[in-house]
Amino acid sequence: MRQVNDMNSNRRQSTINSRRGLYLVLASICVIVAVLALVGCAGSGTSSAGGETTGAPSSDTATPSAGANSKMLIVYFSREGENYWNGGRRNLAVGNTQHVAQILQSLTGADVFRIRAADPYPDSYEDTVARNVQEQNSDARPAIADPLPDISGYDTVFLGSPVWNMQEPMIMRTFCENYDFSGKTVYPFATYAVSGAGRIPEDYAKYCRNATIGETLAIRGEEAEQSRPQVQDWLKDNGLAVR
Ligand SMILES: Cc1cc2nc3c(=O)[nH]c(=O)nc-3n(C[C@H](O)[C@H](O)[C@H](O)COP(=O)(O)O)c2cc1C
Repeated sequence: MRQVNDMNSNRRQSTINSRRGLYLVLASICVIVAVLALVGCAGSGTSSAGGETTGAPSSDTATPSAGANSKMLIVYFSREGENYWNGGRRNLAVGNTQHVAQILQSLTGADVFRIRAADPYPDSYEDTVARNVQEQNSDARPAIADPLPDISGYDTVFLGSPVWNMQEPMIMRTFCENYDFSGKTVYPFATYAVSGAGRIPEDYAKYCRNATIGETLAIRGEEAEQSRPQVQDWLKDNGLAVR
């Protein structure tokens, strides 16, 4: 009996031991599952946070944004309406210089200030020519419609306009004379019909006080809309950012 009892007790003991082993395995599996679930949650949390905080900026670094290029400013004047076009006249919905300014902006991410005349120039080409002659003869400083920008934070200023009677429109002098360009480089750009940039580089050297004058980009008005390669080359030649 005793032996039987002992045997039974041994059998009971081994049943208890194997049950304990099973519980331990089950408990271990539960713990592993719980840990994996936590790691999984933490993992997905990190990746979503990473997407917001580090993913976007890393692609921004490869392609400079306007913020990254905030030291560059494009200032331009351009006139839509009737204009010279291949020996004739054409009504321009977007001015030639504006096309170049837009291309320049897309390549640099620079900030932009468009100069608009407080007293807008006429649509008619001949009337605009006549008014410009008057303004040149009287050494006028036509008023600018909008408040002028603070340029103290910029070290590069692209200054663009059409060529009017072999020089910049007088309103460009209105702009220049409002500033001290110490420590800044002014890169002139201009569109023209036949004459090239005319006296623009010399005039900016005179009217943009203390500016360093960089290389001038001059583009035929009729080619302005397709001038991306020329603008790109000019930027590269002058060590300026190209996206
Ligand atoms: C008042 C006036 C004067 C101009 N004078 C010249 C000039 O001296 N030389 C030239 O090549 N083109 C001259 N043009 C043509 C413009 O420079 C050319 O069409 C330019 O691309 C216009 O740019 P916008 O559309 O941005 O105003 C003149 C145009 C106007 C309206």
